[in-house]
Amino acid sequence: MLANDKHSLNPGDNDDMVVSRDLFLNKGYYSKMAQAVSSIVSKKEIILDAGCGTGYYTKQINAKEIYGIDISKKAVKIAAKKDSSISFAVSSVFNTPFKDNTFDAIVSIFSPLAFEEFSRILKDDGIVVCVYPGEMHLIELKKAIYGDETILNDKAVSSNIFTSIEKRNVKGRMLLNKEDISNLIRMTPYFYTTPKEKLDNLNGVESLEVQYDFIIEVLKRN
Ligand SMILES: C[S@@+](CC[C@H](N)C(=O)[O-])C[C@H]1O[C@@H](n2cnc3c(N)ncnc32)[C@H](O)[C@@H]1O
Repeated sequence: MLANDKHSLNPGDNDDMVVSRDLFLNKGYYSKMAQAVSSIVSKKEIILDAGCGTGYYTKQINAKEIYGIDISKKAVKIAAKKDSSISFAVSSVFNTPFKDNTFDAIVSIFSPLAFEEFSRILKDDGIVVCVYPGEMHLIELKKAIYGDETILNDKAVSSNIFTSIEKRNVKGRMLLNKEDISNLIRMTPYFYTTPKEKLDNLNGVESLEVQYDFIIEVLKRN
């Protein structure tokens, strides 16, 4: 990680977000999406999880060589303890420590898409598998916080270097307890951007059935 790739002292998700996400993901609510991503890359040999967080998805990938990078030192420390067969590094996805034409697949789950850098480090027939929220993702949680002003998710992935070759939805419902709700809200930027009086709407909520709605998009270079 080079100093000029850091735009703050502690870039990426802060420690509280990282720990909350790890606790939430380890409950397995998103396992259907993890399986779908792993199966898409199951025939690929050298794979990078770009913006891997604490490695929850990275460790479910089966491949000859697996790498994970994230700009958060805390996230990479947790990830590295989980699976010593995977090589993890603190790095920006926009300036990675890999040679040209290295990877058969790059996975990017809810993380920044660095298409120019991905294009450089992917092999000619390599693919990018990206996951981002669909329209109904966590809609009940957002309604409980914001009421009618509910924010819809931005759906589009756009790149002039890559073309979409497959797009699928993974949807389901999860019944969350108070602790899950707290972890889920703390792992997102909403916790920091939402006025306290709106977050207080969750105070009396003991459990909530919430939809997950993921879009998995596979792209290849033009
Ligand atoms: C929403 S989290 C997703 C993490 C992981 N893919 C997951 O789903 O658990 C986004 C991640 O991107 C990382 N991140 C943000 N900007 C980054 C950058 N420029 N380079 C690498 N990682 C970055 C954050 O630190 C965070 O771990």
